[in-house]
Amino acid sequence: FVSGTGKKPLRVAITGASGQIGYQLCFRIASGEMLGKDQPVILQCLELPQALNALKGVSMELDDCAFPLLKGIVQTDDPNKAFEGADYALLVGARPRSKGMERGDLLKANAEIFSVQGKALNNHANRDTLRVLVVGNPANTNALIAARNAPNIDPKRFSAMTRLDHNRGLAQLAEKLKCSVTDIEKFAIWGNHSATQYPDVTQTVVKGKSAKTLINDEKWIKENFIPTVQQRGAAIIAARGLSSAASAASAAIDHMRDWTFGTNGQWTSMAVYSDGSYGADKGLYFSFPVIVDKNGKYEIVQNIKLDQFSQERFDVTRKELLSEKDGVASLLPN
Ligand code: NAD
Ligand code: LMR
Repeated sequence: FVSGTGKKPLRVAITGASGQIGYQLCFRIASGEMLGKDQPVILQCLELPQALNALKGVSMELDDCAFPLLKGIVQTDDPNKAFEGADYALLVGARPRSKGMERGDLLKANAEIFSVQGKALNNHANRDTLRVLVVGNPANTNALIAARNAPNIDPKRFSAMTRLDHNRGLAQLAEKLKCSVTDIEKFAIWGNHSATQYPDVTQTVVKGKSAKTLINDEKWIKENFIPTVQQRGAAIIAARGLSSAASAASAAIDHMRDWTFGTNGQWTSMAVYSDGSYGADKGLYFSFPVIVDKNGKYEIVQNIKLDQFSQERFDVTRKELLSEKDGVASLLPN
């Protein structure tokens, strides 16, 4: 399996590979955007039996791109095969919500999928290298289910996606402050990937100055910025008639790339296994500000002072995650 670049291919499992998000992810990963332009990959695609034909079409198109880094494509409806030796797993395959639903409404429809896939990851993935990103909603609680069903895998190897919310926040702030997204530091999403998430600008710095001071409009932050980020997924569904896909795939690539190569000292947002930091109950998959070092090890940023407003928002999203957890108790083995 040694390719022209001398590197051994990494095995990247993608579930729901022929869905809206999967259709974006396969091509971007195969072109080297996630793991680097010198890193060969094998895509291990999982789909439902009824979508295997569509997956065949995706696989044909991947062939037709003649990507130099793409060393193999697995097409299967068997999670045990899809996760065999996986170094990365992007768990996307699940039902999306439609207009009028909250993401939590998907709990019953999707929870079982993540229990089955957690077990298959436990038995077949590469436990020493694995990084799991749950995208399928409700993402945080699905990550909890998958991790708890994989007792032999370090729960820190599982995560859920709040990078899309993070990127949405950066875009709104850049527009407001007429700056580039790269000028913005120390912005973070706390909690659940849901309407209770807390996009926090209290620590945010833009070109060395406090974003709050620059914005100078508490009302805009509370009544415009925060709800816009919280409700952006619903706004996309209302506009497109379908849930976000290209932006979601882009955020998934950002998440995995940064978790691999590091964030260069900068904050990003990832829903990770809570060690109890800030009073987020241990074991929940909770979005925190994190910094990833160049070896791919993440740390939850510590010693942030939460003001009263932030603490209230934090508690709302924490409580929602606890109630989602209660709702799936039967799928959480001890
Ligand atoms: P989609 O319906 O276009 O695609 C989902 C695909 O998953 C389908 O092809 C389906 O056949 C497949 N699938 C369903 N169950 C499966 C299973 N058990 N195993 C393997 N494949 C399975 O949906 P989409 O727009 O790609 O969205 C996928 C999920 O991602 C949804 O739950 C959506 O809500 C979620 N999402 C999350 C975020 C986030 O920020 N965390 C952002 C966007 C979308
Ligand atoms: C999003 O944030 O766009 C996704 O989670 C899809 C949704 O249901 O909002």
